[in-house]
Amino acid sequence: MLLDLIKKSRYTVIYTGVGMSTESGLPDFRSTKTGLWEQEDPSVVASTDALNRDVERFFEFYRKRVLGVKDCSPHKGHEILAEWERRGIIQGIITQNVDGFHSVAGSDNVMELHGTLQQVHCQSCGQVYGNEMYESETFYCTCGGKLRPSVVLFGEGLPEDTFMKAIDASERADLFIVLGSSLTVTPANQFPLLAKEQGAKLVIVNLEPTLFDHYADVVIHKRKIGEVLAELDHHLSS
Ligand code: APR
Repeated sequence: MLLDLIKKSRYTVIYTGVGMSTESGLPDFRSTKTGLWEQEDPSVVASTDALNRDVERFFEFYRKRVLGVKDCSPHKGHEILAEWERRGIIQGIITQNVDGFHSVAGSDNVMELHGTLQQVHCQSCGQVYGNEMYESETFYCTCGGKLRPSVVLFGEGLPEDTFMKAIDASERADLFIVLGSSLTVTPANQFPLLAKEQGAKLVIVNLEPTLFDHYADVVIHKRKIGEVLAELDHHLSS
């Protein structure tokens, strides 16, 4: 069924959440015990407030996250999506993930709604650096400004150009596939609905049920994304 939808579609958009990255070894956000946010309150530490008032804690939290990303790498599923884009099977990826793994794997049209941990930039002058600055505990720019990861912090809005591109892609989609998101975070979770309203078929692949399952044309639970993509890829390549 999903295979047929992919074959028929002329404009397929993929939407990934943290479930896309767990098979790379990164923790998700909301699982009990292993979820990243079971250990820290994100609205406190990953915020503009922390950057302004408790910067040492902010640096420490994000250094850990940068090192976490540097310890892992894209998995086969990321590579399959990059290959599908090259072959014209999919047209773009909207992601909530900040690990940057879609781009690292070679995907080109990636809309990173929450930014990326692959780079940091100066809060004062905007100068961009690689994330190895955080690795080497260099937290200040040559201008003296604070270096912060290029991710959206609590207290900040989503990047407008990326957001507009994601709206456009969702409206153009005739197939919209969600991979590994609980779809609990607004406004990012509005894209699947927007696509559906504009006539796209909606597919949700997620280990657990999501709030949006009843809008979907196809729902796949209890199966890992890597496995589902590998199986589809096998059929698309034969
Ligand atoms: N295969 C399929 N699904 C998986 C896998 C896997 N290998 N691993 C985890 N999942 C599913 C989980 O069952 C869970 O429902 O992925 C979902 C991830 O949901 P969340 O942890 O809520 O992540 P996400 O939807 O991406 O929301 C996280 O919240 O505040 C923001 O910035 C934050 O972007 C982040 C977002």
